[in-house]
Amino acid sequence: MSQTNHQPIRVLFVCLGNICRSPLAEGVFRKLVDEAGLSAHFEIDSAGTGPWHVGEPADRRMQRTARRYGVDLSKHVARQLSEKDLAYYDYIFVMDRENLEDVLHLDREGRFRDKVQLFRSFDPEPGNGEVPDPYYGGERGFETVYQIVERTARRLLQHLLAAHGLKETVGLSR
Ligand code: 4NP
Repeated sequence: MSQTNHQPIRVLFVCLGNICRSPLAEGVFRKLVDEAGLSAHFEIDSAGTGPWHVGEPADRRMQRTARRYGVDLSKHVARQLSEKDLAYYDYIFVMDRENLEDVLHLDREGRFRDKVQLFRSFDPEPGNGEVPDPYYGGERGFETVYQIVERTARRLLQHLLAAHGLKETVGLSR
């Protein structure tokens, strides 16, 4: 079944500052979607639960790590999550449980609860379900975040393609 005449699948990645983890998840996921020739089927964005970095570019350390893997975050501008996002997006993938709590707090009537999931619940490797916050750590933390995000985004895309009846694309599985 083709989705050509359907609405794009709206996917939002959420972290605290929208300068490290969620911009990376957005960039990696978008690259995978582009490589699969499926960009017309998706609308992809990211946002932060907090206001502190609104208007700023992605963290330089995160940009540098992403660039090494061919993911360009140079055009990212941080923004804060709003209630409108909860209604607009079909899927909201949060990076940790604090993000989850904050997003659910914004959803006062619980109308959008089913859209919100821990991104890392799709990680094919065992873990605690959270993408660790690299902001106050060293360079290695950004590499760790990249590895987590890359393998999780691949699995997530497979999941969404299956859930939406989109053709399985060669090269996405590991
Ligand atoms: P992010 O990382 O949520 O992955 O964008 C952070 C960025 C900034 C801060 C914390 C985490 N901060 O405290 O300013």
